[in-house]
Amino acid sequence: MDLSPDQMSPTDIYHALTQIIIPRPIAWVLSPNDTNAESLNLAPFSFFNVVCSDPPILMLSMGNKSDGTLKDSCRNLLERQRCVIHIAQDAQAAQVSDSARELNLGESELEGTELELVDFNGTSMQRLRQVPVALACRLHQHLEVGNKPQNLLLVEVEHIWVDDEVCFNDGKGRVRFDAEKIKPLARLGGAEYASLDQVFRVQRP
Ligand SMILES: Cc1cc2nc3c(=O)[nH]c(=O)nc-3n(C[C@H](O)[C@H](O)[C@H](O)COP(=O)(O)O)c2cc1C
Repeated sequence: MDLSPDQMSPTDIYHALTQIIIPRPIAWVLSPNDTNAESLNLAPFSFFNVVCSDPPILMLSMGNKSDGTLKDSCRNLLERQRCVIHIAQDAQAAQVSDSARELNLGESELEGTELELVDFNGTSMQRLRQVPVALACRLHQHLEVGNKPQNLLLVEVEHIWVDDEVCFNDGKGRVRFDAEKIKPLARLGGAEYASLDQVFRVQRP
């Protein structure tokens, strides 16, 4: 099949791209709804990846709400410059999906869930206790991309927490992070998700 984006509607292009750019990692983003971070917003974003390691920069791409206003995570990042990105586990798929509900600004997706917050040591923020990887980030750059436009948010990682249960020493003095224990949840198209079925190695040339 050949597809020409210039002859397709934006919706059809979105459906094609999200079904073929797979699997996508998911940033489960906690962001402060107010200056004192008394209320926190939680939402998943799979237009997410690493951009640079020196300094450590990640990207998130956020569309708008159905009424055309900024998504709460985007507004919180632009107004307060910080967020915590979690790498959710495959068993948390339902909670991740549920946290994508569109609520009014200031309402927290955490209410009524079993997710718990703990202090994120080394930062002024909190993180989700049940998730094995958390990255404390600060806004680096905001760009508007495309016709709607889409908000491209570059964030710098200031602190990383990884549960000791998913870390090991490789015997050569390097800490390794065990993908099979992290069990990251990945996004496919539509309502489909994936987990790591098999981890295999390829000899380096
Ligand atoms: C797994 C998953 C991944 C998502 N990825 C994105 C994304 O990359 N960009 C985006 O704008 N919306 C994405 N969404 C939709 C947002 O999570 C949704 O609009 C949410 O309500 C935003 O919440 P907020 O307004 O509290 O920030 C995704 C939803 C799910 C379930």
